[in-house]
Amino acid sequence: MSRSLSLFLAGTLAVAGSTSLRAQHHHHNQAESPVQNQPWMKPGLSPDERAEMVLKQLTLDEKINLLHGNGMPGWGAPRPNAYLGNGGAGFTLGVERLGIPIIQMSDAAYGVRSSAENGRYSTALPSNLGSAASWDPQAACDYGALIGRELRAQGYNMTLGGGVNLTREPRNGRTFEYMGEDPVLAGTLVGNRIKCERAQHVIGDIKHYAVNDQESGRNEVDSIIGKRAMRESDLLAFEIGLKVGDPSAVMCSYNGVNGDYACENKYLLTDVLKKEWNFKGFVLSDWGGTHSTVKASAAGLDNEEPLDDFYGAKLKEAVQNGQVPMSQIDDHARRVLRGEFAAGLVDYPAQKSVVDVEGGLETAQRIEESSIVLLKNEHNLLPLDPAKVHSIAVLGVNADTGMISGGGSAQVDPPGRPPAPWQAHVWFPTSPLKAIAAKAPGVTVRYGGSEPATAAEAAKGADVAVVFAYQWESEGMDLPDLSLPDHQDALIEQVAAANPHTIVVLETGTAVTMPWLDKVEGVVEAWYAGSGGAKAMANVLFGEVNPSGKLPMTFPRSVADLPHPHLVTPPPGAQGKEAVMRTGEAKPTFSVHYDEGVKVGYKWYDAEQKPVLFPFGYGLSYTSYRYSGLKLGEDAGHSVTFTVTNTGERAGTEIAEVYAGLPAAAEEPPKRLVGWARVALKPGESREVTVAVDPKYLSIYDGQGDEQPGWKLVPGQYTFLVGGSSQDLPLKQETTLH
Ligand code: BGC
Repeated sequence: MSRSLSLFLAGTLAVAGSTSLRAQHHHHNQAESPVQNQPWMKPGLSPDERAEMVLKQLTLDEKINLLHGNGMPGWGAPRPNAYLGNGGAGFTLGVERLGIPIIQMSDAAYGVRSSAENGRYSTALPSNLGSAASWDPQAACDYGALIGRELRAQGYNMTLGGGVNLTREPRNGRTFEYMGEDPVLAGTLVGNRIKCERAQHVIGDIKHYAVNDQESGRNEVDSIIGKRAMRESDLLAFEIGLKVGDPSAVMCSYNGVNGDYACENKYLLTDVLKKEWNFKGFVLSDWGGTHSTVKASAAGLDNEEPLDDFYGAKLKEAVQNGQVPMSQIDDHARRVLRGEFAAGLVDYPAQKSVVDVEGGLETAQRIEESSIVLLKNEHNLLPLDPAKVHSIAVLGVNADTGMISGGGSAQVDPPGRPPAPWQAHVWFPTSPLKAIAAKAPGVTVRYGGSEPATAAEAAKGADVAVVFAYQWESEGMDLPDLSLPDHQDALIEQVAAANPHTIVVLETGTAVTMPWLDKVEGVVEAWYAGSGGAKAMANVLFGEVNPSGKLPMTFPRSVADLPHPHLVTPPPGAQGKEAVMRTGEAKPTFSVHYDEGVKVGYKWYDAEQKPVLFPFGYGLSYTSYRYSGLKLGEDAGHSVTFTVTNTGERAGTEIAEVYAGLPAAAEEPPKRLVGWARVALKPGESREVTVAVDPKYLSIYDGQGDEQPGWKLVPGQYTFLVGGSSQDLPLKQETTLH
């Protein structure tokens, strides 16, 4: 990450939020003014009709105003109209005389960003990847609704959230911002998040479109991938997310895809997104991800952010000299206007209010409770029983004070502190030590630090040792490998050597390797746990919550097993980010060849027969489940029915996973996730569940030539597999589909 970019992202320039509030009030107080009587101001007409009416009233300058940002605090010198911003990552002017509001955008990956520098409070939810471990569309909905409410409370009407790049490269520094390695799981969850976020009357957004699967050289890397592979993996996640969530905005990514930058890539923006998927909203560029005027406009980019290097004066000039037809400008402007109407910006103007802090903490804790994954529990050491355990040593970096969060533009600021500098490690004041002590009143709970020898000494005298281990990630960088940083492996080794009853709680943004796995009794994956993290974690450790999360990504044994053992980084002499950002007609300067294609995550390890540390879909419980009675639906095998029984002594929720193997002629990896059910069961209870399988999830993308694009079900023998993890599938049945 270059210095100047760090500076703008960490920007400290205060933008007068109160001024923009005044501007909005002024505008909305004109209830009796003629604009309120205009036909497009009336709910009841479709967003398309309303947008069309407004479009007809616009001058060229007014149209162009809709197509670019006006700066971001810290991104170069502020524009004269900077006071109209709300302190977020960007804003696009409205048309005040016609009642069209300013679009106030804020980053909101796992909560509303930049709250501290604006003097506001936001809830930090568990990381997106963490929440994906719940496999719970309702939790995703609650996640989005909370962010939508807090955005509005802070005066925003558009989110820059909804990251769904597939975990193709687990060292990607933004893995925590995305929803794992499977397109059906990730797409379904991000769609539910967006659906409920935009129901709060904010413009929903899905990003970063597309194949922005690593941060290294993100502004100049070209992702090379075959169409079929792309459509069945990375793009499928977007396709599902768009279908379920129906956001009005798509953010195109920094990188190139097959030769053209994503934000001027006709295949991605026009052929697939707007034509095939019939997307009616607008495409905005990632910040500084626009590279041209004429090419980008023709390819389908509607809005440049955060400024107007290409979509301001240059766009006007291009229209005037005939290089960009007015029909393109109209299409871009219509899409932005439609998005405003569809999201309810006109009918339900954002109104600042106080965030529901208590409600947010509860939601964050509840989502974390369903996201925690129990990875190992030897001798049923967990849950801890305060009647039997007399002393607990709590160890690890900051385990007395807080839990780590993910950095970059996703960063949510913790309360009580000034905004953190760009790429600082930010620990939320959710103290594991306090949360554990609160659960075990009669138990001696002591913090033994993170220095290996001292920690081991503290662990020696305790009945149980709990080590908190973190791995910090951020936008703008990738991890060098998947090991825990800061000698934490040594810390765990030494603690485990001192105490046979050692539990490791992981606070990670992606997979980690665990050289000490055989030496510890328990491993709990808590991800980046958010504002309610410590309480959720303690509830799991003491059994008040029975863990139910399942891994949304594979934990490999070693980076040597990844499709790209060596991370592809910019070669020496590459142009460098500054040279390619905001440079007209630039091309990506180096490539990453995703030759593994559709074999992302478990599909890779399955196909290559590589053993893994923990497979996709894996997670333990304090109870046990049995699967039985698999039946395939009469409807050509597109529904799968089976029974899950809780065979243990505690109530629990089992995530029952359904996979399909395609006929050999399809030439696909051995299996793919096609559906799942979350089944809540009391001890001894059985329940029959039916999982509907979308025929698309059984199909292949048969778009070899552009002549016959589309999805096709390959006739032949299909195998349905059902169970509790991608590698534990006790039920199996074959069927022939035509
Ligand atoms: C990130 C986007 C973010 C934008 C605005 C970019 O650097 O890639 O995810 O929304 O900045 O902050």
